[in-house]
Amino acid sequence: MSLLKVRDLVAGYGDTNILQGVSLEADAGKIVTLIGPNGAGKSTVLKAIMGLLKPRGGSVRLAGQELAGREVEEIVAAGVGYVPQVENIFPSLTVAEHFRIMQASPPADELARILSFFPQLEPRLGKMASVLSGGERQMLAIARALILKPRLLLLDEPSAALAPQVVSAVFERIVAIARSGIAVLLVEQNVKVALPLSDYAYALQVGRNVLSAPGPELLEHPGLNDVYLGKAPVPGESSASGGAG
Ligand SMILES: Nc1ncnc2c1ncn2[C@@H]1O[C@H](COP(=O)(O)OP(=O)(O)OP(=O)(O)O)[C@@H](O)[C@H]1O
Ligand SMILES: [Mg+2]
Repeated sequence: MSLLKVRDLVAGYGDTNILQGVSLEADAGKIVTLIGPNGAGKSTVLKAIMGLLKPRGGSVRLAGQELAGREVEEIVAAGVGYVPQVENIFPSLTVAEHFRIMQASPPADELARILSFFPQLEPRLGKMASVLSGGERQMLAIARALILKPRLLLLDEPSAALAPQVVSAVFERIVAIARSGIAVLLVEQNVKVALPLSDYAYALQVGRNVLSAPGPELLEHPGLNDVYLGKAPVPGESSASGGAG
């Protein structure tokens, strides 16, 4: 059974429903990626799972437990970690202070375990986050989310605004985090880097599932360009809607 099962998720802002029934699954130890054009609703899916946005329909189950309708605090306590798309660190705090302000200040061995994923942060613990490189900032944002020991980690466009060689370094770390037993649900625009590393991937178009397949297969899917051009994707061998199988 999948750790995360999202079924027919409906959510939106004001009078508008952005998500029109999105379904997806994610598993411990695996990377599942959500792709799609700007405005498709990718970030909205993560916010609705996290409870920042109350789902208006559908279900969000984590290990069988219903999260839809719960408060953010309860969803965090259930084991969901979240790294938002932008502004995900505090420039005026040191790296070490990012860890100390978390609800439960981590014991030294736990901090060492987290830093083992990001060794380049260790010599920077006393530095202000504002002096970190773009890649180091993204690594800090992810490391901070790991403090609460999530079973499911939601990452919104970790590659945004990073140089290509830095993107590979960040993704290599994300793979290591997943392989340590965490379910990673990734939102990405950078399909060429993300899909080859994704165990499974879903494409969204205007708030709906349109394609899904193992990551490398989705990258080669004949309908993928249409998804980004706003056309109905041509059918291929992969399934047209949710269900990681
Ligand atoms: N706080 C908000 N209030 C009203 N509408 C919003 C809000 N946030 C997002 N939207 C709208 O919801 C739709 C989906 O936005 P969302 O941010 O989920 O897209 P996305 O797929 O993450 O896009 P991008 O690739 O640009 O990050 C867009 O039309 C957007 O304008
Ligand atoms: Mg987004």
